[in-house]
Amino acid sequence: MNPVEIIRKKRDGKKLTKDEISFFINGYLNGKIPDYQMSAFLMAVYFQNMDFEETTYLTEIMLNSGHIIDLSDIPGIKVDKHSTGGVGDKVSLILAPIVAAAGVPVPMISGRGLGHTGGTLDKLESIPGFRTNLSVEEYKKVISEIGLVMIGQTEEIAPADKKIYALRDVTATVESIPLISASIMSKKLAEGIDALVLDVKTGQGAFMKEYEKSLQLAQVLFTIGKNFGKKVIAFITDMNQPLGYAVGNWLEVVESVQCLRGLDVPDLMYITYVLAGAMIMLGGKANSIEKGMKIAQKVVLSGEAYEKFLQLVEKQGGDVSYIENLEKYPLSKHSIEVKSMFDGYVYEIDALEVGMVSLILGAGRTKVDDVIDPKAGIVLRKKVGDKVESGEQLAVFYTDRDDVIKTAKERLAKAFKISHQKPEPLKLVKTIIDDNGVRNWE
Ligand code: URA
Repeated sequence: MNPVEIIRKKRDGKKLTKDEISFFINGYLNGKIPDYQMSAFLMAVYFQNMDFEETTYLTEIMLNSGHIIDLSDIPGIKVDKHSTGGVGDKVSLILAPIVAAAGVPVPMISGRGLGHTGGTLDKLESIPGFRTNLSVEEYKKVISEIGLVMIGQTEEIAPADKKIYALRDVTATVESIPLISASIMSKKLAEGIDALVLDVKTGQGAFMKEYEKSLQLAQVLFTIGKNFGKKVIAFITDMNQPLGYAVGNWLEVVESVQCLRGLDVPDLMYITYVLAGAMIMLGGKANSIEKGMKIAQKVVLSGEAYEKFLQLVEKQGGDVSYIENLEKYPLSKHSIEVKSMFDGYVYEIDALEVGMVSLILGAGRTKVDDVIDPKAGIVLRKKVGDKVESGEQLAVFYTDRDDVIKTAKERLAKAFKISHQKPEPLKLVKTIIDDNGVRNWE
């Protein structure tokens, strides 16, 4: 087989065989196929798509590129959650300790920032000392000791996703249903779960901006999960404005810790409770999502979820003193205010643009080997529907980079649309997909 022939075949819209996909993915992993051919292949898939059969082959080949962890000796139904990616989406940091505190084991393999979206791994690694590259043995040890573990793809677990993910991030090949599906499901099927909750984002700040595309993605993810024998619930949730107030790695850890200590950030905590409720139900600790949501709220109020997060940080090598004392973290060289020029209501906050600005501040990558500045990012002061007066702060951003301040200030100010008209409240959780089909979430 010849890589050029395979790229040409996909470029021309033809269906690939399992052997051809396997040749390409494994050739890339073992270094026989270079980055430039993989980039061309990814772009061909981006434009020509893959059907469900090809997507399933791709998932299976990526899954089998590493170990499939067996957690059957750990008691309980193991449940995880994965989001298709958003701006300010720090839900995993809050939800995983909540669900573990509710008695459901959560083994989680996450990704780094991708395109304009943040990644759980980069957020966790902003905690000094926190290790996300545990070996399979360490992974099993941590989950068996505290009922929670959060790592990334490694050379042992989902290595194909680790390598391809980093390349997609910098070649504008993220927004593709087969590539997103295989990336997510190869990680999730490797981690030893029994059940999975999926948060498929839709809107301006999501990879799938149109609802119909998000629904297609949700259905592909759901069906792959079911075909691999897992219990699955998928939600389609809004990503038109950033989730919560903080965007940027350490800033998002701070907001997550505050929420775990009981702060109510309404949009962020509502989504967190719905997803956690579904996980707690799938984990057999509640007989409905609503009852699971109540349990989730209870473990936040009692402090058990925060305690679980501290245990996680400690077990994975992080310095807990930074979590207990958030002010201890170093500050960015610049903190710049963005103010409103008008009176009115915040009508829209362009999440994609906020995500793009966070990248130029240093919170994400534009090249594979870019190093992230964990302190960089944005804290919104206003959200959609809030009243604002001329001269009031809309956001504050943090960066060490001198040369991006002017552009960041202009772009962030433009990302806020101010109107005299108060907008309709955004519907955060739109749809649920489970064994009973596709329904509106009430
Ligand atoms: N999350 C992933 O893990 N992979 C993608 O491709 C997109 C979101």
